[in-house]
Amino acid sequence: MDRYAVIGNPISHSKSPRIHSLFAAQTGQDLVYEALLGPIEAFAATVEAFRAAGGRGLNVTVPFKLEAFDLADRHTPRALAAGAVNTLAFDVDGILGDNTDGAGILRDISVNQGCPVAGRRVLLLGAGGAARGTVLPLLEAAPASLVIANRTASKAAGLADEFTRSGPLRPLGCGFAELAGQRFDVVINATSASLSDAAPDLPDGLYAPGSLAYDMMYGKGDTPFMRAAREQGAARLSDGLGMLVEQAAESFLLWRGVRPDTAPVLAQLRAGL
Ligand code: ATR
Repeated sequence: MDRYAVIGNPISHSKSPRIHSLFAAQTGQDLVYEALLGPIEAFAATVEAFRAAGGRGLNVTVPFKLEAFDLADRHTPRALAAGAVNTLAFDVDGILGDNTDGAGILRDISVNQGCPVAGRRVLLLGAGGAARGTVLPLLEAAPASLVIANRTASKAAGLADEFTRSGPLRPLGCGFAELAGQRFDVVINATSASLSDAAPDLPDGLYAPGSLAYDMMYGKGDTPFMRAAREQGAARLSDGLGMLVEQAAESFLLWRGVRPDTAPVLAQLRAGL
């Protein structure tokens, strides 16, 4: 049977083995998918050992996405734009590095949430790895505007500058205070604030009528960002569980050439939170 795994540290909490096993059963693909604990000092050696033992591909999670980028022989354009890799595919030509996180969030927002980004005013919060991986897929979805805002304004400006030549739309970077007076249709939280049970400190009045507040984080119940967004008038709220399932589906498609139906898998995961 073809072998796949998710590698990270820690890894025992990962939902990826469950998601990919459900995908495999649904599509009739003959594969096994495990969780692999990567020693902090031995990521590359662990990947090579898995590959030598017949592994066909890996998902990569915290803290190895940058090392996975360096390990790959070739990269997809979206992995190059993200500067990080969450999917490795092993073939006769070596190791291909891809990044399916951005495609996953775009698909969750546009298809699952029924909120196409085209023509909308989009605000991306954060300027770390999670935000970076989302910029190119967002620009490709042709929003009316894209503002990247970060607690440390200079990092948002730097990230926006990297994408000034990616297409006709130039993203703008700023700090949170400079958002005052602006309105957005889609607000995406790519900060790690929820990890410390906090929400980004945003000015009031950002949410346009009918707007969506989307948090890349998820958990049982609303995240701190979702609670704050509700109070500030966001019409619709979503956490990032759908993104998790959609990025997995993109990886599965890359490896197997088959796109699984994500809706029943998302429903099962949601029920188990
Ligand atoms: P990740 O890979 O998850 O993006 P990261 O690269 O460490 O993680 O980036 C974390 C992001 O969350 C940064 O944009 C950080 O803002 P700063 O650049 O100002 O540090 C943001 N962040 C973390 N905690 C935050 C908080 N309490 N409020 C607002 N932004 C926060």
